[in-house]
Amino acid sequence: MRVLETERMVLRRMGMSDVDGLMGIFSDPEAMRYYPGTKSRSEAEAWVRNQLDRYRRDGIGLWAAVLKDSGELAGQCGLTVQEVEGREEVEIGYLFLRKYWNRGLATEAAKACRDHGFALGHDQLVSLIDPGNRASRRVAEKVGLTLEKEVEKWDKVVCLYIIHKNGGTL
Ligand SMILES: CC(C)(COP(=O)(O)OP(=O)(O)OC[C@H]1O[C@@H](n2cnc3c(N)ncnc32)[C@H](O)[C@@H]1OP(=O)(O)O)[C@@H](O)C(=O)NCCC(=O)NCCS
Repeated sequence: MRVLETERMVLRRMGMSDVDGLMGIFSDPEAMRYYPGTKSRSEAEAWVRNQLDRYRRDGIGLWAAVLKDSGELAGQCGLTVQEVEGREEVEIGYLFLRKYWNRGLATEAAKACRDHGFALGHDQLVSLIDPGNRASRRVAEKVGLTLEKEVEKWDKVVCLYIIHKNGGTL
């Protein structure tokens, strides 16, 4: 199911048939540097099942980002519900295949997800980013998020980036 369209990509719900493409991210130690580790095929299948659960439960999740010109899966980007300091927040998340990095694709997809999140009625959106992940922090900034503070999540300290719907503060 198609969710969003950008200039160069379609964002659609992922399925088990995307596991081969997603392994291009999950098996790459450089792409998974800020995650607990690379993922096996069965772990990638569990990841996709988790997104299918999110679609059913939350109506949102990480979506497959497919290039319009080639039909290739370039990455994943979307909106996921995350608990942050006891509150439910909606996070803009993005992971792309290394061969597509630094072409503005994550920024383009994340901006569409930001606009979609606000259109769905969310007043604020966040991104939770490892302090060392400079590329991801740069994407968050280009999408208009600002660093709020550091929080504990996934058993580590991460940067909490926030954007408010009306550009104001809470
Ligand atoms: C983070 C990620 C999605 C960015 O994807 P991308 O398509 O390359 O992003 P964009 O091209 O839109 O923007 C990247 C920006 O980061 C900058 N950048 C890249 N590497 C950098 C680094 N090591 N230090 C500082 N800036 C860096 C680029 O120059 C660019 O900024 P610019 O437009 O001002 O020049 C990609 O690196 C990725 O998939 N990483 C692995 C998964 C991951 O860590 N996801 C984020 C989890 S929070």
